[in-house]
Parts: sequence; structure tokens; C-alpha cells
Amino acid sequence: MKLAIGCDNAAFALRDVLAEYIRESHPEIELVDFGLQDDSGKDYPDVAITVAEAVASGRVDRALLLCGTGLGVAIAANKVAGVRAATCHDVYSAQRAQLSNDAQIITMGSRVIGPELAKVVLDAYLSSSFAGGKSSGKVDKISAYEQTHR
Ligand code: RB5
Repeated sequence: MKLAIGCDNAAFALRDVLAEYIRESHPEIELVDFGLQDDSGKDYPDVAITVAEAVASGRVDRALLLCGTGLGVAIAANKVAGVRAATCHDVYSAQRAQLSNDAQIITMGSRVIGPELAKVVLDAYLSSSFAGGKSSGKVDKISAYEQTHR
């Protein structure tokens, strides 16, 4: 799996922790880092839209986006057609984001969650996959709306 990671300046430190965790604990994942190299600079919509476009184009399979709250990056990423981004700070939501919503992007806030819980939540997301079945029709309705309201 190709996993993109991106952050704004508020989440630079959490990005470093989670990127290192993924590299060490998930050697099967190819990490594509869209993050900052220092803690100055990028606004959350810039990185969120760049990463969401990488998801929409198929360049990466899934993504982790980080900002102060996890909210701004989710709002921005969800503007990109075909992308479903979900803010998750607990294990159940992270599982359901995949199982029910087929969310290709998980977002978290560095001012909301600590690094150790963030690792557990990320693992819950990464180890889950879309259940299909009854959930497919609901996700299809979102896609259908998107296609007719561009
Ligand atoms: C800081 O720019 C803060 O607004 C941002 O990281 C994020 O929390 C927005 O949703």
C-alpha cells in the first residue's frame, strides 16, 4: 500500500513521530511524504488538496493528514472529487471510517491527540477495509451527488 502523509505547521512534530512509526512498524507500507521539512510555512488547505489530489489520481492508495485539529485538512481534502476524508481520534471511528465510509484519508489533530494514541488510531484505520454490502449503496450516493453537482 502507498500511504501519503501530509501536515501543516501545527502538526509538524506529530508528522515526524507517525512517519517514523510507520517506517519502523509497517515495512509493507510505502510512505510518500508530502509534509514540511521545517515548522514554518504551509497552510493546511495547500497540503490537504495536494494530498487529496494524489489520492484521487491513484498515485497513492490512502493518506494521513495532520493539522492542529484534524478538521481543516479534512474539510479541504473533501473538496476534491472522489475523496472521502474522516477525522478520527478514537479507534472505533477509525475502523468505521474504512468499514462503513471507505474513507481513503484519515485526519488527526496534533492539538487534540497525543502521539501514542495517534499510533493506535492509525493502526485501527490501516488494518480495516471497506465492508461493501449495505455500505456500498450509501457511499455510491455520495459519489453520484458529486458527479452530478460539479
Ligand atoms: C493552524 O493553522 C490551525 O488552524 C490548523 O492547523 C488547523 O487546526 C485547522 O483546522
